[in-house]
Amino acid sequence: MLDAVGTASLGWGVIGYGWVARDYAVPGLLAAGGRLVSVADPDAGARRHAAGLGARAAADLRALLDDPEVQAVYVATPNHLHRAAVEAAAASGKPVLCEKPMAASLAEAEAMAAAVRRAGIPYGTAFDQRHHPAHVAMRDAIAAGAIGTVTAVRIAYACWVDAGWAADNWRADPARAGGGALMDLAPHGIDLVDHLLGEPVVEIAALTQHRVQRYAVDDGALLIGHTASGVLVQMHVAYNCPEGLPRRRLEVLGTTGQLLAERTMGQSAGGCVTRIDGRLGLSAPLPVPEAGASPFARQMAAFARWLRGEEHPRLFCLERDIHTMRLLARAYGEASCR
Ligand SMILES: NC(=O)c1ccc[n+]([C@@H]2O[C@H](COP(=O)([O-])OP(=O)(O)OC[C@H]3O[C@@H](n4cnc5c(N)ncnc54)[C@H](O)[C@@H]3O)[C@@H](O)[C@H]2O)c1
Repeated sequence: MLDAVGTASLGWGVIGYGWVARDYAVPGLLAAGGRLVSVADPDAGARRHAAGLGARAAADLRALLDDPEVQAVYVATPNHLHRAAVEAAAASGKPVLCEKPMAASLAEAEAMAAAVRRAGIPYGTAFDQRHHPAHVAMRDAIAAGAIGTVTAVRIAYACWVDAGWAADNWRADPARAGGGALMDLAPHGIDLVDHLLGEPVVEIAALTQHRVQRYAVDDGALLIGHTASGVLVQMHVAYNCPEGLPRRRLEVLGTTGQLLAERTMGQSAGGCVTRIDGRLGLSAPLPVPEAGASPFARQMAAFARWLRGEEHPRLFCLERDIHTMRLLARAYGEASCR
């Protein structure tokens, strides 16, 4: 399969053509020079939209997986359906980029990982925030020693998701989502810490709340953890934070300075990053190359390069993604809402 990818524009099949696929991933893959070949979605409106872009569209995934023009598969169904789609794509020998969280449970993610290993296909979980220009600039600044020895990462990542947020709000259903704000938003933070510091979070614990929204999943959580070398990690994620409030903040603290990213976490480019000097307390903007580039376009381009062997082998990494799922399971195992 890797040989077949070549340097021509990558032909994509998309399983699950809802909000994130339609508004971010497909515009991203097209901007990255890819082709939308085929879409599988049971929703007729989704299929009509995809057909309007020139894609073949069917309710079922069989035609997409049998299509020789589909060289890579992007999975963006609700969480509990990731497993079936990834297993089917693996059995057909196609590389897969699957949305986060990898699955609705650790057991499902482990079954997916087994199928991927058995088939020997390239697999990546779609952590688009790795590819946000601001986060790449922060990672490079940290590696270059811009804030000294890193001591802590603090993240606030929140939004408002009420029971009627979507016509069929699967995010509020524990069986389909696998959890609430913690399951949906914390994976981004866990992965981002690994990306920024080059080492994983190894321990984690959480408190969850069911404070505002009228559904069965958590609408907020606080997580604490540390990385392998001892960097402390603190995360507040929430579905109960109104739009007008500051909701997206990422701080990396070190012995000679601090990086503060505001409004960078999310699907779009933008936001700003400041470096605060540890001795004088002065703030200066951190230069961000290609600041306006879409994280999704960069992710799709990076995945295509990775398939061709032109990226760091661990830019996408099944074992790291399974580790993230283990951390989420551990966080929920220890979570309490009292
Ligand atoms: N990376 C990000 O920033 C980001 C943002 C939003 C969502 N996501 C993830 O993307 C996934 C989809 O989220 P969304 O907000 O787009 O959801 P959505 O409900 O808007 O879209 C899901 C789509 O899947 C389709 N679908 C349902 N069953 C299907 C099946 N059996 N086969 C094919 N398609 C099927 C639905 O008809 C719908 O069009 C979730 O895993 C979510 O966590 C990631």
